[in-house]
Amino acid sequence: PANLVPQAPEDPLFGLAREYRADESPYKVDLGIGAYRDENAKPWVLPVVHKADEILRNNPELNHEYGPIAGIASFTTKAADLILGSDSPALKESRATSLQTISGTGAVHLGALFLAKFYQGGRTVYVSNPTWGNHHQIFKNVGLTVDTYPYFHKETKGLDFEGMKEAFQNAPDHSIFVLHACAHNPTGVDPTQDQWTEIAAIMREKNHFPFFDCAYQGFASGNLARDAWAVHYFIEQGFELVVAQSFAKNFGLYGERAGCFHAVTSPAEDAPQTIARIGSQLAILQRSEISNPPLYGARIVSTVLNDPELFSEWEENLRTMSGRIITMRSALRSKLEELETPGTWNHITDQIGMFSFTGLSEAQVMKIREEAHVYMTKNGRISMAGLNDSNVEYFAKAVDKVVRE
Ligand code: LMR
Repeated sequence: PANLVPQAPEDPLFGLAREYRADESPYKVDLGIGAYRDENAKPWVLPVVHKADEILRNNPELNHEYGPIAGIASFTTKAADLILGSDSPALKESRATSLQTISGTGAVHLGALFLAKFYQGGRTVYVSNPTWGNHHQIFKNVGLTVDTYPYFHKETKGLDFEGMKEAFQNAPDHSIFVLHACAHNPTGVDPTQDQWTEIAAIMREKNHFPFFDCAYQGFASGNLARDAWAVHYFIEQGFELVVAQSFAKNFGLYGERAGCFHAVTSPAEDAPQTIARIGSQLAILQRSEISNPPLYGARIVSTVLNDPELFSEWEENLRTMSGRIITMRSALRSKLEELETPGTWNHITDQIGMFSFTGLSEAQVMKIREEAHVYMTKNGRISMAGLNDSNVEYFAKAVDKVVRE
């Protein structure tokens, strides 16, 4: 009976956003959800998105008919170029297939569903500890088991590379590993290229399956190709793999749900036939879940990616976002060092991408929320874009106070 359905907890991130909105303090600061804010703490519509929107509105050919099940081809083709590399052997050898999805979440879900149905290896998916909270439930919801591998080193506030390698070694052969392609969420800590090389070697030896999640391309190094280096490297190494790609952050199209799922098979004579069969199964799954993906966000992205001038303007917009985040990292670190806040603060500038994993405990996070009206997730993650010239000192002082108590 219906009254046996238990109450589920509120989503921690959206619950935090709700609490922030309800707070009436004029000093409140939102460092919660990973969404870019400008220097006035306001959402930023990228100027290039405004332009693309204008182009779309003036196109009399466009209507609101259904798109194809796999999405808009001019979008998925360019999305593949961007993350797999336009000169990728996977594309040249016709062994990749791409489907437009409901942003990154939909791409992770489609991949999870496909693997739950067809993957012949292990049923356990290993995610980093910590990872984006949603990973756990997306994989569990399709009947896969989720386990974790060590990732964050509490003392160095960097990568626990030894722990990570050991876990990859000890996992049963053919396990699925979720890897953040760049700008790891929530820690802001990425493996170096040498470390990726070692990870790939272990995964090859163990026949593990790489499941890349790429939500922040353009936010790590500021260079799109460099941010996709790990994906490119694994493909060059001949892995069969999948990639979930989001355009929420790098196009500021959060609510439009523009994303893409890519599957790549290993080099083989029959690879084009294999990938065509995989694509056909993905299309069935897509049709039964969402029928066909939404048009607007993908049209915006496609307009930009297919026009060299708009593309460079987009890169410029990306640099504006990543540049302001880097400035805020330095500002926060210097304020804390000026205040002589106990502890070391180099990790604030060492970490990259949208987030910083401050090292603050849950009790400290809650105290800062109550006393200073600063909202961050309980694990001590802050969205760097929530900081600006007007609130960075206020935040540093709140951290200083709580650390000294
Ligand atoms: C985040 O981690 O803040 C973002 O990825 C937003 C989300 O959907 O969880």
